[in-house]
Amino acid sequence: MTLEAIDIYVPSRIPSTHPLHEPQMLTAARREEFRRMARDSREAKNAAMSGTGPKSLHPLYTPRLDPNSLMPKKNRSGLVSLSLFSGGGGLDLGFERAGFHHSASYEWLDFAGDTLQANRPEWSVYKGEAGDVRGVDWTPYRRQVDVLHGGPPCQPFSMAGKQRGALDPRDMWPEFVRAVMSVKPRAFVGENVAALSSARFAEYVDQVILSPLASEYSIQKVTLFAHEFGVPQLRKRVFFVGFRTKRDAAAWAPPAASHFRPGGKPEEGLQPTMGIREALGLPDIGHDELSPTIRSGLSGPRHTTSIINSVSAQKRFRALQIWGNGVAATREAAQAFVAKHDDYRLAVPEVGIVQGFPEDWRFSGATYMQLGQIGNAVPPALGYAVASSISSVLAR
Ligand SMILES: C[S@@+](CC[C@H](N)C(=O)[O-])C[C@H]1O[C@@H](n2cnc3c(N)ncnc32)[C@H](O)[C@@H]1O
Repeated sequence: MTLEAIDIYVPSRIPSTHPLHEPQMLTAARREEFRRMARDSREAKNAAMSGTGPKSLHPLYTPRLDPNSLMPKKNRSGLVSLSLFSGGGGLDLGFERAGFHHSASYEWLDFAGDTLQANRPEWSVYKGEAGDVRGVDWTPYRRQVDVLHGGPPCQPFSMAGKQRGALDPRDMWPEFVRAVMSVKPRAFVGENVAALSSARFAEYVDQVILSPLASEYSIQKVTLFAHEFGVPQLRKRVFFVGFRTKRDAAAWAPPAASHFRPGGKPEEGLQPTMGIREALGLPDIGHDELSPTIRSGLSGPRHTTSIINSVSAQKRFRALQIWGNGVAATREAAQAFVAKHDDYRLAVPEVGIVQGFPEDWRFSGATYMQLGQIGNAVPPALGYAVASSISSVLAR
């Protein structure tokens, strides 16, 4: 009888670094297979680092996309923002570049809080236990904030997960609602995966998000694509935008696209979004397109440096001759560690660019933690577009 047949499950030996990390239940045989793959990969990486591995064909390339160009810095509007579930700071950066004064960020992962603090030493960043929104008394912020924004964890709703919604301990929408009702900002922005607006979660959205807020806010829901704002990635997100006054709600319009899809029909007044190869400055191979959606494995079943979350994404990366299965910490490390088929191995700063982060925005933590923050983020240019649309209403 094989080990598979008697279903012996063996726990992982790697300790979790995320409060809600869900260890994968694997049979002894399957875990041994993963261990062997990890060992082979480690040996290949060590050989690459000691200079005894195969030589790469890829020089170091200079990116053509500067994500800052997608979000020209605006003057301070005097409007104040408050950030919950701040992660690695995608929304925070978008709001800052749109002219908001950042009052504070709340994020329970220490390493994500470290990212915010390292990039913006002048910001108030609450991390770890102090950043856990469940324990925060929001009343000191009451009526001091123009826009409260946050993207509660999307894992309870994501198609890549088990879609347990309210039954998932990671569901933090009730906390978002509690904060809004306590702070009473002039407007709020709640962001999530597009699956949250599917029929499956219609009742959840109505009962947990819309109904409790509707007594004080006029709420609109809008679905936006990151590539319509110049980000070289297929990424669809839903935004709930609420205003305290009917007048502001009536004056608001969702941000209009500034870009069209690479290879798509040119539209007047819009710029073409670069494909991922062009954005990263890779040579022309006769094929380029948006990057598949970058995943975050942060609270998933295993710590990973892969940004690929489906077979179709794997195929699309292969056609692009790009390796997203084991992202390296730096371009130099990526260059030294030759990928299968000699595809172009990505490095963390390049994944940042594909998510719309400028290279000078540095992520803290181990490589998988950095990738997790990137994959979890709202592309800053998308946050910027939403922030600008709200600012034009509130700053009248
Ligand atoms: C989808 S990510 C938000 C990403 C962020 N909006 C951005 O643009 O970079 C959700 C974040 O919520 C954080 N989080 C989850 N539960 C939390 C809690 N109880 N208190 C504070 N942060 C929490 C997670 O660690 C994660 O970084």
